[in-house]
Amino acid sequence: MTIPTLLSEQLTTSLAKVLGDTLPAGFEASVTASQDLRFGDYQSNAAMMLAKQAKMNPRALATQVAEAFGESEIATAEIAGPGFINFRVKPSYFAKRAQMMLGDERLGVAKTSQPKTLVIDFSAPNVAKPMHVGHIRSTIIGDTLGRLARFMGHTVITDNHIGDWGTQFGMILWGWKNLLKQEDLEKDPIEALLAVYKKVNAMCKEDPALLPVCKEELVKLQSGDKENLDIWKRCIAVTKTGLEKIYNQLDIHFDYWLGESAYNDALAPLVDDLLAKGIARVSDGAVCVFSDGFHKPQEDPFLVQKDGEWVPVPAIIRKADGGFLYATTDLATLDYRTKHFQADSIWYVVGAPQEKHFKQIFDIERMRGVSGDFRHVAFGSILGKDRRPFKTRSGDTVSLQDVIDEAIARATKVVEEKSPDMPEDEKSHVAQIVGIGAIKFAELSQNRLSDYIFDWDKMLALTGDTAPYLQNSYVRVRSIFRKIDGEFKAPASLTLSEDAEIHLARLLVRYAEVVPSTLDDCKPNLLAAYLYELARAFHSFYEACPVLRSEGDVRESRLALCELTARVLKQGMGLLGIEMPDRM
Ligand code: ARG
Repeated sequence: MTIPTLLSEQLTTSLAKVLGDTLPAGFEASVTASQDLRFGDYQSNAAMMLAKQAKMNPRALATQVAEAFGESEIATAEIAGPGFINFRVKPSYFAKRAQMMLGDERLGVAKTSQPKTLVIDFSAPNVAKPMHVGHIRSTIIGDTLGRLARFMGHTVITDNHIGDWGTQFGMILWGWKNLLKQEDLEKDPIEALLAVYKKVNAMCKEDPALLPVCKEELVKLQSGDKENLDIWKRCIAVTKTGLEKIYNQLDIHFDYWLGESAYNDALAPLVDDLLAKGIARVSDGAVCVFSDGFHKPQEDPFLVQKDGEWVPVPAIIRKADGGFLYATTDLATLDYRTKHFQADSIWYVVGAPQEKHFKQIFDIERMRGVSGDFRHVAFGSILGKDRRPFKTRSGDTVSLQDVIDEAIARATKVVEEKSPDMPEDEKSHVAQIVGIGAIKFAELSQNRLSDYIFDWDKMLALTGDTAPYLQNSYVRVRSIFRKIDGEFKAPASLTLSEDAEIHLARLLVRYAEVVPSTLDDCKPNLLAAYLYELARAFHSFYEACPVLRSEGDVRESRLALCELTARVLKQGMGLLGIEMPDRM
């Protein structure tokens, strides 16, 4: 159990002692981490919540409760302000916890008591369209959530729901037959298909007569024409090969690649079912789902305000011409995941502009009586230094492959400067880890909902909250152990006396709280910020407290803190999908 959980239990007992029957049955006092250590490590406003009902002054109640709490093995209680109860954790308890962590592979992080079957839908680029830096956010955040959820003991299924059945195939098919050079396709399939798509797109603008010709190719594909189906299949296959290469470089992997086309056969029966149940109805020839009045208008995803009035924005699930839409596919996909995978949770890591889409999908599921932990894990945009959408100098969207290549090239320079004597193959391995780590950490250390500025110099800097800083910190800690005689052995107990030691232990122990809350809130930046704080606390500790030059118990305890710092940094960064080098 984490410290705040133990403290809430003890606090609840103290409240019961003071309030007796006035304490509402089942009341559980909550304890949160303090923002400012001057007020202790944790804080509770329980006395303020309960005072009114108990007909007591909140501060008086807090005083009595703090007295009843007295002193536990864990902490001392003090009161503050209008009735807060602050808890100061004892250094001896940090020492005890840290000692326990030494013998625990999970470093104190307990598995969840409520394991779920969780599908994570992320990355999901579109075939023959570029995978651009926008997809980087989904790919990296989704992967991290998957790692965290697996670590916490959930059954995780990662699914790459690629866009492999869009209207772009009309142009691609025509382009394939009339423009594509096979050798370009072999060289770089993703680029080749994209170039064809762009070219046909431009040609259609010049010569509008080409558009219906492309449309014809699409209709042939949709009605099962063998030649077009074969070309389509090859497009998917070569795209997958190209994508796999990128994902391998990023060390990101999927359990399934169930793209949009996997659900083609499920769409017609799904629409019929929604019609039969009265959830959908025909409007202007299209099949639509309208609001059922369940929500307040402000929260209803099927309404928008226009000129002071609420007007319907239905979800269209079949067009008047019989075609199905993105929403139809997502409903069928959700069906499949809940039935086939028995998923009780489905998280979609997709940009913020699709908020309305997912609200409608989840709401239609509610109307169908399907419930679960369905979340749209949204994120903002990536901007260039000029605060406009990140583009290349020529104004094109930046391809993910280019970003990876440049990160590795820049990291190579960093490694070259730091360790000119390192053997070449190690240099290139470290440059990979540092370059990819830098991209990932720059992404994950942001609040995902905000836009962020893509800044090469910042993300590769050896100072500040960057992957290279954390990797370098890890290397420094590890280097201490190269200087001791023999193996590090965990001591039977730890003694902490210096402030810097106590603070480092405090942060190490907090790891057990940070990992679960990072997953609960789907906010990788919580873990990233924690790891940065830990690395900084380590550096302050290392400056204030000699390790190798100290002796006896003090030396053993300090070495133990170093060992834990290295292990937490490595495991924590691993949960973010970032590797640690042994040297750099
Ligand atoms: N292919 C879509 C896009 O690039 C993202 C798909 C997200 N997943 C989903 N189930 N809708 O915008």
